[in-house]
Amino acid sequence: MPERSGPAAVLVGPPGAGKSSVATVLGQRTGLAVRDTDFDVERAAGRRISEIFTDLGEAEFRRLEREAVAAALAEHTGILALGGGAVMDPATRELLRAHRVAFLSVTMPNGVRRTGLSAARPLLTGVNPRATFKALLDARLPLYREVATIEVPTDEMSVEQVAQVIIAEWGL
Ligand code: S3P
Repeated sequence: MPERSGPAAVLVGPPGAGKSSVATVLGQRTGLAVRDTDFDVERAAGRRISEIFTDLGEAEFRRLEREAVAAALAEHTGILALGGGAVMDPATRELLRAHRVAFLSVTMPNGVRRTGLSAARPLLTGVNPRATFKALLDARLPLYREVATIEVPTDEMSVEQVAQVIIAEWGL
């Protein structure tokens, strides 16, 4: 059998699902390197995500994100966390078909609670974050499920427990 290439695990899910925290713990438990495409985008643009949205606009952010995800899927062999909206891009969803993708799901109340009203998340800073989050979940749920190899419902789980499910699933 040919060697599997690409990341050992790719994490997708909405903001507040715990992708970054779970990726960090997965890195600690497995010794695998952790990469986060939000950081790759910030490095490429030379500014924070919130500044990319305000200075360059969401379309430019999504273009940078698509490139960052494609590069990371091709190069990275450890744990890869994607930004919450990366799955909206059809080319990204196509690329993800060849990979082990864990969808970390979260319901609206927990997602809103975990994200707070952080200015670092420009899409959730509107007047009604609960409605915004619900609309985001409704629109994206089918897309997360389309790319997911496994779904881990995180509402009642600790970061450590989510990481252990993924380790067990793929023998990491
Ligand atoms: C976004 C999620 C963010 C970041 C950007 C857009 C989204 O990443 O990529 O603010 O569209 O859901 P996190 O999911 O890590 O918060």
